Amino acid sequence: MRLCITGTPGTGKTTVSGMLGMNFINLNDFARNEGCMEGYDESMKSYIVNINCLKKRLKDYDNIVFESHYSHLVGCDIIIVLRTSPKILKERLKSRNYDDEKIMENLEAEAIGLITEESMEICKNVYEIDTGIYGIDETVKIIREIIEGKGEKYRAGKIDYMEEILEWY
Ligand SMILES: Nc1ncnc2c1ncn2[C@@H]1O[C@H](COP(=O)(O)OP(=O)(O)OP(=O)(O)O)[C@@H](O)[C@H]1O
Ligand SMILES: [Mg+2]
Repeated sequence: MRLCITGTPGTGKTTVSGMLGMNFINLNDFARNEGCMEGYDESMKSYIVNINCLKKRLKDYDNIVFESHYSHLVGCDIIIVLRTSPKILKERLKSRNYDDEKIMENLEAEAIGLITEESMEICKNVYEIDTGIYGIDETVKIIREIIEGKGEKYRAGKIDYMEEILEWY
């Protein structure tokens, strides 16, 4: 079983992946080590990852957790999208040294549910957990329930932050 933990930066992927008691791979580290990085996007201030290269290098991995904001693209049995209300995410991203433009891009992506949408197009087993509502330990517990097939309540498509965006304008 390949479990992919994805979500906008700052939603908690790395924090919870290390607490599941499963083997896990941070795809940023993996892509760097395997030569799957294609350069640097100055405007996004982030590295560009070659997803096909990653897919090939990861094809023999099983019983594993993949985590990164593009982990949903590498071939997954279950995708868990960590979500966070833009209001809370803004504070988390401000505490990193991201510039305002990068913060805004991430908040918009989160508000419209971009990663959930991408995930639902490519996989039937997509779940969402709001890490602004559930704490770290609770999030870990919910992920375990989902793995055991007891996560119906967390099926993707229910979280909606659109009202928050309307308040921005
Ligand atoms: N329920 C929760 N689950 C995970 N993290 C949480 C939760 N509640 C609060 N946090 C906090 O949110 C932050 C998440 O940071 P983390 O580095 O794990 O995010 P990330 O999704 O891996 O980001 P990136 O995509 O940039 O790697 C941490 O400071 C963590 O303590
Ligand atoms: Mg991380």
